[in-house]
Amino acid sequence: MLTQIDKARSLAERFGGWRDGEFCPAGMHISRIAEKCGTPFYLYHGGMIVDRVRRVRDALGVEVSYSVKANPNLAVCQLIARERQAGAEVASSGELVVARTAGFTPEDIVFAGPGKTDDELGRAVQEGIFAVNVESLNEIDRLASIAKRKDRRTGVGLRINPAAQLMGSQMRMGGTVGQFGIDQSDLADAVRRTLSYPQLVLRGIHVYTATQVFEVEPLLEHCRNILEIGLEAADEAGQPLQMIDFGGGFGVPYFEKMAEFNLERFGEGFQRLLESYRSDPHLDDCRFLFELGRYLMADAGIYVTRVVEVKQMRGKTFVVTDGGMNHHLTATGNMGQVFRKSYPLLNLSSALREPEESVAVAGPCCTPLDMFGTNISLSEPKVGDLLGVFYSGAYGYSASNLGFLSHPTPAEALLWQDEVHLLRPLGKPEDVLEGQDALLL
Ligand SMILES: Cc1ncc(COP(=O)(O)O)c(C=O)c1O
Repeated sequence: MLTQIDKARSLAERFGGWRDGEFCPAGMHISRIAEKCGTPFYLYHGGMIVDRVRRVRDALGVEVSYSVKANPNLAVCQLIARERQAGAEVASSGELVVARTAGFTPEDIVFAGPGKTDDELGRAVQEGIFAVNVESLNEIDRLASIAKRKDRRTGVGLRINPAAQLMGSQMRMGGTVGQFGIDQSDLADAVRRTLSYPQLVLRGIHVYTATQVFEVEPLLEHCRNILEIGLEAADEAGQPLQMIDFGGGFGVPYFEKMAEFNLERFGEGFQRLLESYRSDPHLDDCRFLFELGRYLMADAGIYVTRVVEVKQMRGKTFVVTDGGMNHHLTATGNMGQVFRKSYPLLNLSSALREPEESVAVAGPCCTPLDMFGTNISLSEPKVGDLLGVFYSGAYGYSASNLGFLSHPTPAEALLWQDEVHLLRPLGKPEDVLEGQDALLL
């Protein structure tokens, strides 16, 4: 099993490797990229994103729907939208705007989320997306009345919370009691209710129950269960299904002692499973899709932050950087972990210096929670060095509380066809006032 340093080095190689002892993605020294972007910044690798989408699609043999929440950057979405059999899964009307602007066609967009407002449902209906994945019986009624008001028909996927749990995952949103989806015991009701409205077109079912799934066999069993639920829905409807959305949640090995999700093994098993159901006439024209965020994006992003302070405290070295939990909440433990685990990190300014004794790497925010790790082996960090936090392409920018402590927001840049494109400039301190009205005193 790879160590954290091995993982980081292997990802660094995929970005383009090292020159003169310095990280050099796409032939450009990281110090020069930092001059161009300012720090901190996210650096995405377009080629890796596209390769991953193709690899997943080929391994599974079905459509891949990109979960925009993982990284809603417009250029990132554009790269995915150009791919064959790639759609988008959105969770808000903001993500819908990004998806449409990036070039995803409405027929390739699904919309899930437990708290969709009338305005959001209205926008989904207006755009004519393939399926609004409804999460309650009440949402079916609301969607129908909005569609009626707009005099438009709209596709519906029933997001089902299955009775069976998906084992071997780290965060569950189904198979347990929660706010997500329609309870499996209400499936027949949901089907009948959808069909009772002439404005609604029953597309099929959607099941997403977990993220960070690594174990292949339980996931295959979960997919079999989803197919069975789909057939039950088709039976109840007395018509074939147009969509089975299997969710996804494939895992990324961020931490020590985690190995890669075995995509090829899962893909072989999944294709065999699907083949065994293909002869069912209920599935004749059915679209099958997986919606994935983390697995498509995580490897393809690095968060780059500059060392502003190195100090000793009672025998321990503390390295303090110019960005932390405010920009990359997930890498700093999502506001607290019982056992602090760190993402793979490297000193990008110095491949040549030997790995040091383990150091603590902290961000600039005034809380002990702002910590990338307390025992990170880092090649002798000096003030001014650039540190890279790997596996940062998913749930980095989008999952962080960027307003916390009012530091400027990080820049975003993309390596694409041997060039570095600045996608979003570094924020400015004055941005903190933007959109605020002062009191007239
Ligand atoms: C409904 C739904 N689909 C897809 C995803 C993406 O999951 P992941 O990034 O683990 O692939 C999520 C994540 O929360 C989700 O809630």
